[in-house]
Amino acid sequence: MKEMEFDEQARQVLQILRQGAFLTTCAAEQTNTMTIGWGYLGWAWRKPVFAVMVRHNRFTHELLEKNGEFTVTLPQEDMSKELAFCGTKSGRNTDKIKACDFSLIPGKTVSVPLIVCKALQYECKVVGKTEMTPAGMEEAQFKQWYDKVPGDYHTFYFGEITASYITQ
Ligand SMILES: Cc1cc2nc3c(=O)[nH]c(=O)nc-3n(C[C@H](O)[C@H](O)[C@H](O)COP(=O)(O)O)c2cc1C
Repeated sequence: MKEMEFDEQARQVLQILRQGAFLTTCAAEQTNTMTIGWGYLGWAWRKPVFAVMVRHNRFTHELLEKNGEFTVTLPQEDMSKELAFCGTKSGRNTDKIKACDFSLIPGKTVSVPLIVCKALQYECKVVGKTEMTPAGMEEAQFKQWYDKVPGDYHTFYFGEITASYITQ
């Protein structure tokens, strides 16, 4: 495990997100992970943040509302099978951690564990959240992303980065 500054691998973070990363949450003793493709590394309220967008219908959304801490694991090795699995199955009816045979390590600064692999790792605490709404959104974009399932918007969760490191 090697510590890194939160922005040290910023370009790689954005590149890996295009293939997918794991957003892990944990509440009521249940740990779950889902694949994310959208995320933001930056500054808000003078804090380093990792922001993620989670639709209301995701089990992850339910867990994040119960415990506002999360981890992001950005794999530097091929995990396409696991990313596809965790991006299509829901933790509501599948134990994805078990099914993917993931090993977990405890968070250093959060109550949520991280997936062990060769990866960039972030530990985050939600310090703000906001809802995506039709107001102010370009109509074509709205139709493309939010028209099919009414009300299934994304919540943007702004997670203050409390630790960032690389695992082998
Ligand atoms: C490549 C990829 C990227 C994804 N990115 C997101 C995302 O950024 N936000 C989101 O809400 N869902 C995203 N999804 C869909 C969720 O991963 C998927 O709905 C998952 O089954 C939700 O799991 P959960 O119900 O256990 O939370 C993505 C799926 C894939 C395959």
